[in-house]
Amino acid sequence: MKKILITGGAGFIGSHVVRHFVKKYPHYTIFNLDKLTYAGNLVNLADVESAENYRFIKADINDAALMQQLFADHGFDAVIHLAAESHVDRSIASPNEFVFTNIVGTVNLLNAARHSWQGRFDGKLFYHVSTDEVYGSLGEEGMFTEETAYDPRSPYSASKASSDHLVRAYFHTFGLPVMISNCSNNYGPNQFPEKLIPLFINNIRHNKPLPVYGKGENVRDWLYVIDHAVAIDTIFHSGRIGETFNIGGHNEWKNIDLIKLMCSILDRKLGRDPGTSARLITYVKDRAGHDLRYAIDSSKLQRELGWVPSLQFEEGIELTINWYLENQAWLDSVTSGAYQQYYEAMYLGR
Ligand code: NAD
Ligand code: TYD
Repeated sequence: MKKILITGGAGFIGSHVVRHFVKKYPHYTIFNLDKLTYAGNLVNLADVESAENYRFIKADINDAALMQQLFADHGFDAVIHLAAESHVDRSIASPNEFVFTNIVGTVNLLNAARHSWQGRFDGKLFYHVSTDEVYGSLGEEGMFTEETAYDPRSPYSASKASSDHLVRAYFHTFGLPVMISNCSNNYGPNQFPEKLIPLFINNIRHNKPLPVYGKGENVRDWLYVIDHAVAIDTIFHSGRIGETFNIGGHNEWKNIDLIKLMCSILDRKLGRDPGTSARLITYVKDRAGHDLRYAIDSSKLQRELGWVPSLQFEEGIELTINWYLENQAWLDSVTSGAYQQYYEAMYLGR
């Protein structure tokens, strides 16, 4: 029997992690703690919300006293920490929120875990979910390994790097049992349509311009979100305390090539003449400090724990596009904010 606190479980990756754990581990109780910011959506978890082993807690990780109280009330054995502000463009427009949630919020959880576990660390674990963006930007060659020096360049990646450092500091200073994973860009169902793939699918469908930053030559390494959830499960159960693992699918795409691929798949699916959707491509001013290339070496995870991604990208992107086409109501509700009403109806009886 384990009580696992998953933070940020109503978000994109968190909802897949929560579903995976609720379904695969009926003997664990999964507590999903989420503030429900614009990015948190309980509709993502409608299929598991009545499961016996699932509980939802609406709370803000910036509330230190509440975090202590929740640990005291529920006696969590482990934390899988995903709650964060996650969008680079928002971090450029408004960095402070990233400092509060990603850094201070993480410290609040570390303190609550440390206080609650009181040095009795057997069977306890604080698992921190992080990003490859902490390593900075690559040139044409090379990959990020677990030994790559941190060099974050956006307020988002700097805040995540700080949180990683703090998690490691609690391991070295207080002996808190921690693990960290740094993953590449995720794609798949339920991603908020401010990120490249869902934004562009939605825009293509509605014949809206596709704003390509700069020349579209930046490279990202894409991993299907459920493969990330499975990697987290693998590391959570089989990783060594204090270790870091990189997670990625060896799947690099130049933005413009990916965008053209999405355009051609959507031309086919929407019955448009080939080349129709690509005419929506509009080159716009580059993102400030735009990292050129991310590429992650996940060979440690593959070698030591046997994890491999289950999907080829061609398969994953088809599944993803199908999901957004079939779930236009989901897209409409998250962009309109109507999902807040879902929370009120489900949990507050309004
Ligand atoms: P997301 O923005 O979709 O979801 C974040 C969730 O955190 C939301 O449900 C939101 O309501 C919640 N949240 C935000 N602030 C909170 C607060 N103060 N208190 C409680 N809950 C709060 O993000 P995502 O893309 O699912 O990313 C999840 C985690 O994975 C983040 O830590 C991110 O840094 C990391 N990550 C993301 C990617 C990616 O490609 N999206 C890749 C690697 C790592
Ligand atoms: P994004 O999904 O924001 O992820 P990240 O910046 O964390 O990698 O962006 C992926 C890439 O797509 C990145 O190089 C920026 C680019 N991009 C655009 O060209 N236009 C857009 O409208 C967005 C949101 C992103």
